[in-house]
Amino acid sequence: MTDPISTAWDAICALPQPSLTELFDADTDRVGKMSQRLEASLDDLGELGILFDWSKTHLDDDVLAKLEALAKHQDFAGQREALFNGGIVNATEGRAATHGAMRGSGTEAQVEEAEALTARMGILVEAIHQGALGEINHLIHIGIGGSALGPALAVDALGRDLTLVDVHVVSNIDGLALEQAFAACDPATTLIAIASKTFTTTETMTNAASALKWLEENGVDDPAGRVVALTANPEGAVKWGVDETRILPFPESVGGRYSLWSSIGFPVAIAVGMEDFQAMLAGAQAIDTHFREAEGRANLPLLAAFADQYYTRARGCQTRAVFAYDERLTLLPDYLQQLEMESNGKRVLKDGIPVGLPTAAVTWGGVGTDAQHAVFQLLHQGTHLIPVDFIASIAPGDELDPAHHKSLLINCFAQGAALMAGGNMSADGKDPARAFPGDRPSAMMLVDDLDAAALGALIAFHEHRTFANAVLMGINPFDQFGVELGKKMAKDIDAGEGNFDASTKALMKAAGMG
Ligand code: F6P
Repeated sequence: MTDPISTAWDAICALPQPSLTELFDADTDRVGKMSQRLEASLDDLGELGILFDWSKTHLDDDVLAKLEALAKHQDFAGQREALFNGGIVNATEGRAATHGAMRGSGTEAQVEEAEALTARMGILVEAIHQGALGEINHLIHIGIGGSALGPALAVDALGRDLTLVDVHVVSNIDGLALEQAFAACDPATTLIAIASKTFTTTETMTNAASALKWLEENGVDDPAGRVVALTANPEGAVKWGVDETRILPFPESVGGRYSLWSSIGFPVAIAVGMEDFQAMLAGAQAIDTHFREAEGRANLPLLAAFADQYYTRARGCQTRAVFAYDERLTLLPDYLQQLEMESNGKRVLKDGIPVGLPTAAVTWGGVGTDAQHAVFQLLHQGTHLIPVDFIASIAPGDELDPAHHKSLLINCFAQGAALMAGGNMSADGKDPARAFPGDRPSAMMLVDDLDAAALGALIAFHEHRTFANAVLMGINPFDQFGVELGKKMAKDIDAGEGNFDASTKALMKAAGMG
């Protein structure tokens, strides 16, 4: 028996598939219909302006109508409300997902709690900036996954020209990562932040212990007094030896990969100040408001999810690529990989029944123009169809000759146009090696200015896009049991327990284990 989701996709797949140029030829207002400028005034935190252009995707009225019907069938509106109203949207773990509340979008009680937690963080941040813990010039932020990728992205994006404190994010248990941070920091003026929702993650706890030892061995009188904990397990942090005054808690219902808005964002505030941190929250909240209020294809994260679903489920695309034409977003693909692949890389529906169709595509990407000279060959002429997202800022991030930024934008726009148009670069227009098939989709996010608010908005947009994808597929985007088996096996290997396969046993033997 086929399920209603598969039936909907059978119907979508049976529709005619006009090319992108045919779609543009058939509708002179395609750009007007498939793009939208989102603007918001963020009071004293500035203005937000982002143009979202999904016109160079294969979505047309017929496909969109069917996807809107699928969203209705999946109770998108009800699930969206549950997300913001503290409903148990993470059923396998029996939890709500309240990251929205951390930026003001949730129930009154959740938002009140979040504001109090942010205010508490603000007090500690100001006190540190004013020297309450002595002279602090460096922060080593230790965390992994969702406790590292957001802070690393935001500090890199917002703190390139001026930082109040030099921040190093260390995640890998490979001691080289921590050693590199030690080499760049003066122990006498270094603060350590231990960022872990659970306060049990092996990599983070091992790195934290080594960082404390480094302070001790380098003559810091009270190493524990230089530690701040960012966690949903404050008791665990107290047990570890962190003083309660330097523990910044956040609610259990804020998922790791959705936690940048909570105290996990502490290094961002330390690097660029609370005002920019608040602007990041305000930019994200502007997207929350749009996501909560806009319906159907006018809802930008839902429209993006329609395209994502269409390419994975109707066109067989196994990956999607994102290229930021902005050095400040170099870490964005890494961030989106966790957000999308850990959320939607699932094989069962919410009720445990196996999914009949592909789930999340592999997210990958890079930075333009570098990627043009490395991987775009495959995008233009390879055999895979890969939908591409471009992200760029109209205002430059640099102060050099404007020719730099102009060229950056020109290149970005040219790539989207070339992917769609195709052509032949040979003199007679006939050489197959120089032929470009075209009809390759891309989408564009063009921000007025990549400031803290725009960054917050871009991240929140992708959070909601991920959620919308999950709703359309009927899966739970908020658990991540797929990471657990490897963790258990690592523990078993460490303990010399378990019945391992011959290959693994041989590897252990080669490395002198067991
Ligand atoms: O192993 C995966 C994971 O649980 C992620 O979901 C999470 O962001 C990361 O590990 C770090 O977890 P924690 O913040 O509890 O240390």
